[in-house]
Amino acid sequence: MNVILVAAECAPFVKTGGLGDVVGSLPKALARRGHRVMVVVPRYSHYAEAQDLGVRKRYKVDGQDMEVTYFHSYIDGVDFVFIDSPNFRHLQDNIYRGSREDILKRMVLFCKAAAEVPWHVPCGGVCYGDGNLAFIANDWHTALLPVYLKAYYRDHGIMKYTRSVLVIHNIAHQGRGPVDDFRYTDLPEHYIDLFKLYDPVGGEHFNIFAAGLKAADRIVTVSHGYAWEIKTSEGGWGLHGIIYENDWKLRGIVNGIDTKDWNPKFDVHLKSDGYTNYTLETLQSGKRRCKAALQKELGFPVREDVPLLGFIGRLDQQKGIDLIAESIPWIVSQDVQLVMLGTGRPDLEDMLRQFESQHRDKVRGWVGFSVKMAHRITAGADILLMPSRFEPCGLNQLYAMNYGTIPVVHAVGGLRDTVKPFNPFEESGLGWTFDSAETNKLINAIGNCLLTFRQYKQSWEGLQRRGMTQDLSWDNAAQQYEEVLVAAKYQW
Ligand code: GLC
Repeated sequence: MNVILVAAECAPFVKTGGLGDVVGSLPKALARRGHRVMVVVPRYSHYAEAQDLGVRKRYKVDGQDMEVTYFHSYIDGVDFVFIDSPNFRHLQDNIYRGSREDILKRMVLFCKAAAEVPWHVPCGGVCYGDGNLAFIANDWHTALLPVYLKAYYRDHGIMKYTRSVLVIHNIAHQGRGPVDDFRYTDLPEHYIDLFKLYDPVGGEHFNIFAAGLKAADRIVTVSHGYAWEIKTSEGGWGLHGIIYENDWKLRGIVNGIDTKDWNPKFDVHLKSDGYTNYTLETLQSGKRRCKAALQKELGFPVREDVPLLGFIGRLDQQKGIDLIAESIPWIVSQDVQLVMLGTGRPDLEDMLRQFESQHRDKVRGWVGFSVKMAHRITAGADILLMPSRFEPCGLNQLYAMNYGTIPVVHAVGGLRDTVKPFNPFEESGLGWTFDSAETNKLINAIGNCLLTFRQYKQSWEGLQRRGMTQDLSWDNAAQQYEEVLVAAKYQW
């Protein structure tokens, strides 16, 4: 099929989180399955490898004509199209900044332009009216695309057979605003009902995700657990009713990982400073070296016997960093080392620094976003903590398992799907889970994990090996996306 992925971010060009990783990898996996695949993202800054195609188009946003141009590059079997406009160009890496109206207008422009990409950038085969064409939009930022596809084209018999799939990576962000925001969308008046939502928190409001979910032909979310959670009032953030009504078109597909980038055998960040690449065969010696190198880099005592715990993630409520904070007195009472890497809420960043200064030989709080450190912690740590309050899929636990690092996770969303709890009687499972976001539950899970690390070396190695021998690649997920696209194509 001809598939066009549309998103606000795409690694390695621009990435603020897991969404960028997915949009960087899934298209390549679909292309490997023989599909013609294009990715469309805004051009936030100069991307050296992308060429100006010389196509200029104008779109109306809030009554103003705005010009866009299209840049293009072809990488690993995928066409990457960057939509260029002064509206995006100044954003560089801080892509979600600006007022609510500014962001909304940017998304309107981007989605309007993206919907017409198959006309202006045919890229050998993708052309409008083609029954073999499907868009995959991602999160609220591009949820307007299925709506535009319907209102501007399909309602008028154009692109009649083109399908749209909307992927939910995180339902907590929805593009909410006052009902009056509808005027920015430039849609026929009767479309307002698609956007109107009432909930006890926001009252009657305008909701872009709601409209996209209704207009899309299919909905995908990034794990089975999350597919279930978003139908509940706790997990749906006000959209559970809509998800419930549209359950027939919803499917959970667990993300894969980029096994070239996140592979201890090839990892470029392990090639210097005493780190080393390793495989299943050299796991114990390789990990020992990486752990020593990490301890050295962090300024910890270099000791093989002390368990080294890691946390990598945004510093906010969602990621449960506050649960780790509350566990710190217990953690530092143990013979352990803990490194936390992330940026986010300023008070939580300060807290990290404070823990570090109070417990220099046991705790490091690395405030910042460092891809290199993320790789090194994943390789050098023994244990990765993910106490997220909710986690649609989660990628760090997948990376960890691929590196023989054992995850301790709150059993929600994708974490529950991917980390089967260790069973000492059967010697099965992949890590430790706890079932409610409470400090004592986290402490209990870490405690059990530490006990196994210290006293049951064989069980520990079994956990590591099972983690590393899983097929976490995108191939499996790409096949499931393909099934969704085919189902959408033949629905009438
Ligand atoms: C969002 C979710 C995360 C998921 C990622 C990619 O960042 O919070 O759980 O892994 O999207 O789908």
